[in-house]
Amino acid sequence: MQIVKTRKELKRLLVSWKTAGEELGVVMTMGALHAGHLGLVEAAGKDNDKVVATIFVNPRQFDNKNDLASYPVDTEEDLKKLKVAGVDAVYLPQAGEMYPDGYSTTVSVASMQDCLCGAARPGHMDGVTTVVTKLLIQISPDRAYFGQKDFQQYLLIQRVVRDLDLPVDIIGVPTYREEDRLAMSSRNRRLDAAQRKIAPTLYQVQSTIRDLVLQGETIDHVLEWGEKVILDAGFDRIDYLELRSEDNLALITETASREAVLTSRIFVAAWLGTTRLIDNLSISR
Ligand code: PAJ
Repeated sequence: MQIVKTRKELKRLLVSWKTAGEELGVVMTMGALHAGHLGLVEAAGKDNDKVVATIFVNPRQFDNKNDLASYPVDTEEDLKKLKVAGVDAVYLPQAGEMYPDGYSTTVSVASMQDCLCGAARPGHMDGVTTVVTKLLIQISPDRAYFGQKDFQQYLLIQRVVRDLDLPVDIIGVPTYREEDRLAMSSRNRRLDAAQRKIAPTLYQVQSTIRDLVLQGETIDHVLEWGEKVILDAGFDRIDYLELRSEDNLALITETASREAVLTSRIFVAAWLGTTRLIDNLSISR
């Protein structure tokens, strides 16, 4: 496994692969890797001759300084995991090279941002679409893999690629979960034992909401019930618990057609102490 830290080294490596006609898949991460990240690596390994993983804690997507300062970093451990997973190269760019002095360009999608994490974390999604676009240009992979755990992020990246004609296929990978169905996340490491016990409530509530909506229960009532269960379980605050279209994030309410309901997802974000957890679940799959 090769480790490259500069664009120059990266370019040298990519040219040798491209000349040999190798198809390339990329998995972008912020490190603190878990089995969900490695699931993306596995998917990339199946479709491509070579796989590059990137680790970059992107300062521009943190709307909260404490969140950036406390984001878990464990590069040595990450590199070991990526090697075992069979990654061919890891790109570890430095912030100074990604954003040199005077950096002033943002890639911003004008739709699908005024809701969910886009609304709850101002500037966050622009930070994500900017860094992902830069990495796609630097690496020019054939395919890039993103987790459906961050569904809004995945949709926004698809839109950037379509709108800017970037020659890459964006592949969405279903959410990897712990045994108790808690969605895997680097942020789970921050939970204490009591919070860790409460955390799976998010999945349980979504799963029950799915069943009730499919049985034809009133959406508003079901969501109200869900909020109560999440707070009663010990969550401190809910940013959102909503049903939205999985094509364009349009809000699904009581007046929506059956077809719109069946192509929607439940989206949730809630706080346990200072840790914000997110999850989503398809209504029909
Ligand atoms: P990060 O949170 O490290 O996640 C990296 C990738 O792993 C993202 O595509 C994310 O959706 C996926 N992922 C995380 N947890 C997952 C799970 N439980 N199951 C499946 N996939 C999962 O998302 C980011 O980093 C950043 O915003 C990034 C895209 C790297 C841009 O900085």
